[in-house]
Amino acid sequence: MEQENRAKFGSKIGMIAAAAGSAVGLGNIWKFPYMAGQNGGGSFLLIYIMSVIMLGIPVMLAEILVGRSSQKNPVGAYGSLAKNKNWKWVGLMGILCAFLIGGFYYVVAGWSLEYVFQAIINSFEGQDAASLDAMYTNFVSKSYTPIIWTLLVLGINAFIVIKGVEKGIERFSKIMMPLLILIMLILVIRVLLLENAMEGIVFYLTPHFDTVNSEIILSALGQAFFSLSIGMGVMVTYGSYVGKTQNLVKSTSQIVFIDTFIAIIAGFIIFPAVFSLNIDPTGGPKLVFVTLPCVFNQMFGGYLFGLLFFVLLFLAALTSTISIMEVCTAFLVENFKFERKKATLLLTFLTSIICVLCALSLNENFHIYIGELNFFDALDYITSKIFMPVGGILVALFVSFVMDKKRIQNELTNHGTLKQTLAPYILFLLKYFVPLAIFMIFLNELGLFSYFK
Ligand code: TRP
Repeated sequence: MEQENRAKFGSKIGMIAAAAGSAVGLGNIWKFPYMAGQNGGGSFLLIYIMSVIMLGIPVMLAEILVGRSSQKNPVGAYGSLAKNKNWKWVGLMGILCAFLIGGFYYVVAGWSLEYVFQAIINSFEGQDAASLDAMYTNFVSKSYTPIIWTLLVLGINAFIVIKGVEKGIERFSKIMMPLLILIMLILVIRVLLLENAMEGIVFYLTPHFDTVNSEIILSALGQAFFSLSIGMGVMVTYGSYVGKTQNLVKSTSQIVFIDTFIAIIAGFIIFPAVFSLNIDPTGGPKLVFVTLPCVFNQMFGGYLFGLLFFVLLFLAALTSTISIMEVCTAFLVENFKFERKKATLLLTFLTSIICVLCALSLNENFHIYIGELNFFDALDYITSKIFMPVGGILVALFVSFVMDKKRIQNELTNHGTLKQTLAPYILFLLKYFVPLAIFMIFLNELGLFSYFK
């Protein structure tokens, strides 16, 4: 039996570290705090937590369940659990989505590596906001160095993925995730000691319920989705490596908790830091690459804390990119009988082509556009606004209406050996709330709601 020698995570904690590693990424450390800042602080936080519970947990549980039940990569998983073989296209869409996300995600991971390097050689020192801004712009849109960093990140990824699920991904995540949390806690303590830190916290946590509107609610839902890496095959693939005795509801809740905790903590780093220097907290991508170096510059111990921050950003991005590569690798290995190493190398090669195009599309000497968007933005748009929501709705419908009920019960209760009091509520949300909520996000993100304003 082919399934006998299928890869597995060696331990529960290792699986949780790997899945949380996929979820925790640039979305948590950069995007979440900045969205909270723009959308009403404490009220956004509350809405986000509600979204994670009502949408994130059900969809992630559904994906992990599909993975473990079928013991296959997404294409094999949906194909084998349904009578109608067309469901395999949902799996294929997830894999394609992961591959395309790789196109821009590796590039940004490359930027964070460049900033680790710049922090090491102490090149932020003595620069003001304007010159740091120029440094960022020169790097991203005038030089070719991003390509080198991106290829380096790809190489590191390939190295880890070739080593396999247990010896590569699991072992790496088990070391990196605690390290990441430790670095975050050190940074939080440091920035809380800054002058005016409390103002940042107040800005971050004070709810502004008067500003809450449907768009803010829907963008919190969308962010929860992106941050948890759901709707695109990652959790199906990781779920397929989960041991038969693991409690799926419990593991899902733990992964979701870690991801949400880290997003919230990132806000406790960014806002006090930004407020202590009187900087606009809604500065977008530059908040991390321009504003923060500026903050580190002016604080005692800034060299060390700046370095720690960019190491943190890089590690968070790396555990996410690994999951992207694993999803595609598992597919090639199982459906095309590739050797793991060959599959990884082929993918590294293919990914490097779209990554180079992505990096070049931000360079002012190149005009790589798809419609009105440059290649980088186009990949981001297609994946997070179309593939992910559609994938999320389909997995919810699949588990609610297509998959065998008995099989779901067996998966959730480990063949009757576990009591699951919460599972019926989660399945209820999956069936009724999730498809509707994602459909609304989908319409909103395509800009359809703006017509009603
Ligand atoms: N969850 C990641 C983050 O917060 C982003 C992401 C979404 C992702 N889908 C993914 C990462 C798939 C890797 C694979 O940054």
